Amino acid sequence: MKYENINKSTIDFINNILLTHKILSPQVYLKMKHTGDLAIQLAENFNLLDDDFYIASYLSNIGLLSLMNILEKDNFIHDKEYAQIKRHPILSAEVVKQLGFEKASLLIYYHHENPKYLGYFKADNYPIEANFINIADTFHGCVCQKGFRPPLTFNEAIEETLKHYKDTSFENIHSINEISNILKKYHSNFF
Ligand SMILES: [Fe+2]
Repeated sequence: MKYENINKSTIDFINNILLTHKILSPQVYLKMKHTGDLAIQLAENFNLLDDDFYIASYLSNIGLLSLMNILEKDNFIHDKEYAQIKRHPILSAEVVKQLGFEKASLLIYYHHENPKYLGYFKADNYPIEANFINIADTFHGCVCQKGFRPPLTFNEAIEETLKHYKDTSFENIHSINEISNILKKYHSNFF
């Protein structure tokens, strides 16, 4: 898909990073690609798509590369391992900050927060655009197999993904129905 308002240099930069990961770690590549593709569709729908968001959406999970020993487990993830997984926004944000993208780094840092303040860091003050990366990331996690847990059905995934968005100030600004429809279309195309 072509995004007219994104600089070609940004698109080329992201494509090169995705290509690297496709070769080195297909599992992380798929996570980055699907989260990015879906997040930018959501952001574009609400006129929030710019270069920083584009970079943040694709690189939000790049920190997972350091956690492959946990991600590849096919049984329960223990508390200590989950605590490590919850660090991936910090690691991803640090990578992107070091690359010089401060605003994208901030979006990444908060990409597991939600309007009910029940995210990884329970943050209550962060850029709202980060929520669209959270929705994309959470939805992708729901519709994929995790360890021995089979993928959730579409309806289960929608419920799980949007449960922290219903009855919040977020919902007053961004239509949950519109978001559901975008997720539905994405799901029918790729899963
Ligand atoms: Fe994530």
